[in-house]
Amino acid sequence: MLQTLVPVLPDTECQTDYTLEPLDQVAPPARKKWQPIPDDYLHLPGPELDRRIAAAKAALGSKLVILGHHYQRDEIIKWADYRGDSFKLSQLAADRKEAEYIVFCGVHFMAESADILSAPSQKVILPNLAAGCSMADMANIDDVEECWQALTETIEDTIIPITYMNSAANLKAFVGRNGGIVCTSSNAVAVYEWAFQQGKRLLFFPDQHLGRNTGLKFGVPLNEMVVWDPTKPRGGNSPEALRGARIVLWQGWCSTHLRFTAGQIAAARQRFPGARIVVHPECTMEVVQAADENGSTEYINKRISESPPGSIWGVGTEINLVNRIARENPDKTVFCLDPIVCPCSTMYRIHPAYLCWVLEGLVEGKVVNQIVVDDETARWARVALERMLSMRRTS
Ligand code: 13P
Repeated sequence: MLQTLVPVLPDTECQTDYTLEPLDQVAPPARKKWQPIPDDYLHLPGPELDRRIAAAKAALGSKLVILGHHYQRDEIIKWADYRGDSFKLSQLAADRKEAEYIVFCGVHFMAESADILSAPSQKVILPNLAAGCSMADMANIDDVEECWQALTETIEDTIIPITYMNSAANLKAFVGRNGGIVCTSSNAVAVYEWAFQQGKRLLFFPDQHLGRNTGLKFGVPLNEMVVWDPTKPRGGNSPEALRGARIVLWQGWCSTHLRFTAGQIAAARQRFPGARIVVHPECTMEVVQAADENGSTEYINKRISESPPGSIWGVGTEINLVNRIARENPDKTVFCLDPIVCPCSTMYRIHPAYLCWVLEGLVEGKVVNQIVVDDETARWARVALERMLSMRRTS
């Protein structure tokens, strides 16, 4: 039985294709290379875009690989050669050495990581440079370096910096240079295990919720995790609080995942007594604890797809993925926990018009919206990303 309880309406206010924040707020490193999409593309009807994308893809053949994150809309995912979570897509970017062009349908930090991990001859393209991540923008290198200086002055033990995948390349380079590592939602537990073997304390940025939920899975009590507010001196903590902390959590969050509440889970259980609840670990601690399971987008997809027919799933993650899982599992009941759904508005900026534009450019030998990370940043970020790729998937 196909039961998508909360359909995405075509004109909900979150679906912003063309009304964008100023570019320097969403994708600063790419600013100089930004080129506006020609107006003609924005008025092409869907079937015409499909026809032209198919023709460009066929013309490029094995020179091209299209990667699509699970949160992309169906009109994009249908063109992806591979789809996955941020961990799987990084592995794919590192392994697909034969393709000249990697068109990354995801967000800016994912395309940067693909550029760092791919071969020097490969070109990584992000169809819309304004597809950023508001959580990634919550930590910047100046604030993180200030925090690092304050922590290393206050705490005598070794501190291991960990950046979530959702961060700019210069932050990945920062952790690489300082003996740290990148993590994704799928390997955060393995990353914590590794990091606690290297030092007694961790600095985790930018998502406090993934950092806290992983700390709890790892048995670190709440009173040994402090939050660092970059707008306050010493992050808003006393020197004693910092010395007592095993994990310092950056004050960042994902607006899409903060919409989920423990109340929604209670309501779902009441309505469907047999339902299992699975959420993304970017949700709050209360939500993760009220759920039955939590894991990356790949985990959620796989877990539901492999469950027996007739299973009932309440899901706490982005709506394009939830609706796709529901459609691809017609023998199960799959619904979103949030009654007023909001897609990840920055992921949603990859519209088929942008995909068509960049592919047709490549057919003509014109590379638009290439993501290039400078060599020095890439060198250290690669250290941290390769450490991350060697970690096992735990969820
Ligand atoms: P995944 O690593 O689970 O795909 O999550 C990426 C992300 O950006 C979630 O908001």
